[in-house]
Amino acid sequence: MKTIIRKIENLQLNSDVIEKAGMILRDGGLVAFPTETVYGLGADALNEEAARKIYAAKGRPSDNPLIIHITNMDALKKIVSEIPEEAQIAAEKYWPGPLTMIFKKSSIVPYGTTGGLDTVAVRMPSHEIARAVIDAGGGYIAAPSANTSGRPSPTKAEHVEEDLTGRIDMIVDGGTVEIGLESTILDLSVTPPMILRPGAVTKEMLEELLGEVAVDAALSEDSKKPPKAPGMKYRHYAPRAKLSIVEGNESEVVKEINRIAAEKIQEGQRVGIIGTEETVGCYLQGVVKCIGTRQDEATVANRLYAVLREFDEEDVDCILSEAFSGDGIGNAVMNRLIKAAGHHMIKL
Ligand code: TXA
Ligand code: MG
Repeated sequence: MKTIIRKIENLQLNSDVIEKAGMILRDGGLVAFPTETVYGLGADALNEEAARKIYAAKGRPSDNPLIIHITNMDALKKIVSEIPEEAQIAAEKYWPGPLTMIFKKSSIVPYGTTGGLDTVAVRMPSHEIARAVIDAGGGYIAAPSANTSGRPSPTKAEHVEEDLTGRIDMIVDGGTVEIGLESTILDLSVTPPMILRPGAVTKEMLEELLGEVAVDAALSEDSKKPPKAPGMKYRHYAPRAKLSIVEGNESEVVKEINRIAAEKIQEGQRVGIIGTEETVGCYLQGVVKCIGTRQDEATVANRLYAVLREFDEEDVDCILSEAFSGDGIGNAVMNRLIKAAGHHMIKL
């Protein structure tokens, strides 16, 4: 299959690009497009055959359900069987935006889209290109992250090209995304509502709005339970090299990373180091990358997946990363980093 790649600059929603994307989607094809979180791989969510193609293109396990993307509340009413009051409140505040909510599905949503579940995940993205593509494609677009299963989610079109060229019909290139980590997933079918995947809409933000909010216990570092979002059980977001996270106070972390790096280099390994603006100057050996500043962890969220992919290209054998705060968006950063590390943490 030849993949059409079309660029949209400065959000100039070139009508020919959007129309082409819409036509492919309405015909049951696959189109990757940018959202404010990560690039999504879209298909018509109400067409079971189209949704199935997503699983084949990504190499995704078929029990891992898809998120349906919409652009308005009328569309929500068609695909869910009830809208809990809390969902209404959360939608008013955080839609359009990086929040996905789980509802009971209505009968028009095929099981091929929900991985056989009676619930459906729904998100209303804010990205102008995403919204135009969803509308052009019929209004109900299933879209997982547009990466090969197991690789870091794509934060720019080049990442999608690396993984999916020749396997999908079209890529709409809208440049680098704004947030860089996948949306927060909130399950409202339980009391209190439960976060199944942390993201840019944080627990604190949701609690301010809804009162008590729980976090799926399976997300904690030492849990052996299966997570409630089926996709969270896979070793996702993984670079090819072995990643270790070093946690402690800043100067000790720098010292320990330098020590381990020297040791590995001595053994003949190629070592990658993930540092911050505050520390990169202190790393003396290895392939050192700056992931952002600790003053604003949104910068770290934005660069994380790109940095993991860059290390894949540079063929390092192991990666040593500093840890992050765990507050605000830092919580989502640590969730993804810990998974990428296969839970390998060194605590000082
Ligand atoms: O930011 C995002 O959410 C991006 C962009 C493209 O919108 N999409 C995304 O999709 O991250 P994906 O497929 O990579 O992740 C969807 C997650 C998976 O962990 C899946 O198991 C979970 O959502 N999920 C989907 N439907 C669910 C349901 N009915 N119940 C529980 N978890 C669900
Ligand atoms: Mg994904």
